Amino acid sequence: MVVYLDHAATTPMIPEAIDAYTDAMRQVGNPASIHSQGQSAKRMLEEAREVIATSLSCDPIEVVLTSGGTESINLALKGIYWKRNVDSARQVILAPGGEHHATIDTLEWLEKHEGAEISWLPLDGDGTVEPAAVERALAEHGPRVALITMLWANNEVGTIQPVTDIAALAAAHDVPLHVDAVAAYGYLPVDFAAVRRDSGSTGGAGLAALSVSAHKIGGPVGIGALVVSRSAQVEPLLHGGGQQRQVRSGTQDVAGTVSFAVAARFAQARLSTESGRLTALRNRVIAGILDAVPTAKLNGATGSNRLPGNAHFAFPGCEGDSLLFLLDMAGVSVSTGSACQAGIPEPSHVLRAMGRDELEARGALRVTLGHSTTDDDIDALIAAVPHAYAQAARAGLSDRKTVLGS
Ligand SMILES: Cc1ncc(COP(=O)(O)O)c(C=O)c1O
Repeated sequence: MVVYLDHAATTPMIPEAIDAYTDAMRQVGNPASIHSQGQSAKRMLEEAREVIATSLSCDPIEVVLTSGGTESINLALKGIYWKRNVDSARQVILAPGGEHHATIDTLEWLEKHEGAEISWLPLDGDGTVEPAAVERALAEHGPRVALITMLWANNEVGTIQPVTDIAALAAAHDVPLHVDAVAAYGYLPVDFAAVRRDSGSTGGAGLAALSVSAHKIGGPVGIGALVVSRSAQVEPLLHGGGQQRQVRSGTQDVAGTVSFAVAARFAQARLSTESGRLTALRNRVIAGILDAVPTAKLNGATGSNRLPGNAHFAFPGCEGDSLLFLLDMAGVSVSTGSACQAGIPEPSHVLRAMGRDELEARGALRVTLGHSTTDDDIDALIAAVPHAYAQAARAGLSDRKTVLGS
C-alpha cells in the first residue's frame, strides 16, 4: 500500500472531475466559433466559469482561465507591474519572504530585466506576514509602490495570512494587492468579494487579483485561474485572439474548465466537513510525530491559523531529503516542501525567512493531507517515522560544499 501524504504538491483528481473531463473532451467546437458546436462549447465553458466564480465569490467575468497557478502568478505580477510602472515612477514591489517560487522567481526576473526593486518583508516566527511591516514599507516607499503580493496561506508551513488587514493597507495607499491563494483554495473559504468589501478595496486598489489552481483541489493539472477585479489593470503576457477580456489570448480549454468547475463545486460543498475532518487527522499527525520523535519541532502557526491539512516539522541533525527517501522506501510519500536544486539538498527558504538557522532549515519535512486521506494513512506514517528518523540521523547532515564540488 502506498500512503500519499503530499496533497499540497498535487491531490488526486476526484472521480467526478475525471468523468466530466472525459465527457467534455468528446465535445468538438472552439468556443469562439459561431456555428452550433462552437456555441455549445461556449455554453459549457461559461457555465463552468460561473461555478468557479461562485466558489471564489467573484463575478464570472473576473475569472481569467490560465494554465495553472504559475501562469496566474506571472500574469498578475508582470501584468500589474507593467501597467503601473509605465513611466518608471513605480518600481517597488512589496513581497514577504517565504513566498512560493512562482512568485520569487517572477519577482527576480522583474528585478533583473524590468528594473523592479523588490522590498522583501519579514515573517514572524510562525511564518506570518506582519501588517506593521507592510505599513512601514508602504510609508518608506510611498507613491513608488507598484503592487504588493502575498500568499493567502503558506504552502510549506501552512500559516494562514492576515489577507484582509493587508488588503486594507493596500486600499488605503491606493496600491493593488495580488494574493496567491493556490494553497488555501479548497481548504479555506476564499471569498474575493468579502475581502474586497471588508478591506475597503475599491477600483484597482486593495485586493485586485488572486491566483488559484485546479490540480490542488481534485481537478486536472494544466488549468487554473487569475481572478482579476473588474477595475484592475493587467498587461497581458500572451497576445493573440483577444479572448478573456484581452487579458489572456488563446483558445479556451473547455474540457479542463468543466472538470475544474466540478472539482470546485465538490470542494466548496465539502469545505466545512473536510476542514474539521482534516484538522482532526492533522492533529493526530502532530501528536504522533512529536511523541515518536520528541526532539522534532512543529513549524508554523498553531490552531486555527494553520491550514487544516498541513503539518510541517524540523527534525534535528538530519537532512529532510534523507527522511523523505527513507519514508518513501517505507511506502509513505511526503515532501520537504522546499526545492532540491540539482540533487543538492537546499535549506527551506521559508524557514530561513522565519528566522531559523540553516541547520534547522535543512531538517524540514512536510506532511499534507487531502480528500483521500484516512486514519490508516496516519497510522502508517506514525509507524514509519521513528525508524526512518533513526536512519536519517545516523547519516547526519551532508557537507553541502563537498556535494557541490563532486
Ligand atoms: C502556493 C502555491 N503557489 C503556486 C503554485 C504553482 O501552481 P501550479 O502548480 O498550478 O503552477 C503552487 C504549487 O505548488 C503553490 O503551492
